[in-house]
Amino acid sequence: MDSNKRPENMKRITTPELANAFIDEQVKLLREQIGSNKVLLALSGGVDSSVVAALLIKAIGTQLVCVHVNHGLLRKGEPEQVVDVFGKQLNANLVYVDAVDRFLDKLANVDDPEKKRKIIGAEFIEVFEEEAQKQEGIKFLAQGTIYPDILESDGVKAHHNVGGLPEKFGFELVEPVKLLYKDEVRVIGKQLGLPDNMVYRQPFPGPGLGVRCTGAITRDRLEALRESDAILREEFALAGLEGKVWQYFTVVPDYKSTGIKDNKRLWDWPVIIRAVNSVDATSATIEEVPYALLNKIVNRILSEVKGVNRVLYDLSPKPIATIEWE
Ligand code: XMP
Repeated sequence: MDSNKRPENMKRITTPELANAFIDEQVKLLREQIGSNKVLLALSGGVDSSVVAALLIKAIGTQLVCVHVNHGLLRKGEPEQVVDVFGKQLNANLVYVDAVDRFLDKLANVDDPEKKRKIIGAEFIEVFEEEAQKQEGIKFLAQGTIYPDILESDGVKAHHNVGGLPEKFGFELVEPVKLLYKDEVRVIGKQLGLPDNMVYRQPFPGPGLGVRCTGAITRDRLEALRESDAILREEFALAGLEGKVWQYFTVVPDYKSTGIKDNKRLWDWPVIIRAVNSVDATSATIEEVPYALLNKIVNRILSEVKGVNRVLYDLSPKPIATIEWE
């Protein structure tokens, strides 16, 4: 039987009971497969890697080594949440790598979007490899591959930073959710006790905020991006839109316009809000955000985010505009 093919009679995991049955079975299988060996996992804090981490912690505890690389392009609060949930609450064997300077130094003055992506991906593999070499006795590499990755891209985790890792190390793979769809992975994550904002997280690109700080990334503009994104997410959550709107974020482009404050002219960046609905990201429509909410977000961004004097709402559907700006 092809282990990468979902059996036709496999029931869709939609309830806590079905999730528990899956978890129990996987814990048993994982223990059999892994024995007393050690497993390495790149834990980004995204849904798939978080669920795989929680499942493996349940099965083998500290035999799992989770490596969280903070590349400086994560959203506000994300690295802290990974440390809190996995390091503190779940007692994981967690290696936190502060690689912020390394990534931002490599990205300085690079304005080509594909070059930026390549640098982020290559640097990630390098940092992860260095951490792997510090560990002794690793036999397996766990990955958050899910069924759409297998269907769409021959088993390579689509759009994922860590694609290419297994070949490099020669580790055996552990992929406990590879036959599951995203909604099933979420039900399992919920059942494993992961927080809602981790389990129902909106899609977030591997290169993170790097593709939303357009052109050559600077630390001050990246900060304006992170802060404005945090305000948008906070206000959407308060308005009950979290988990309802498919993807929403801000973009800070690398150009400025004039503004005025206390009778002085300012030369500052705009923040662009993007909020779209989609099924599979191949096309997207624009969320009709209530005007009062937009107004509140605009006012908060203008008064709270340094270096910003203008806020725009991107009304362009996909096609012709892509969801991300670069
Ligand atoms: P676009 O911008 O092509 O995005 O309409 C479609 C979906 O893919 C995400 N995206 C990425 N995800 N690495 C990723 O992991 C990337 O380089 C990347 N570029 C776009 C985007 O957020 C949207 O959900």
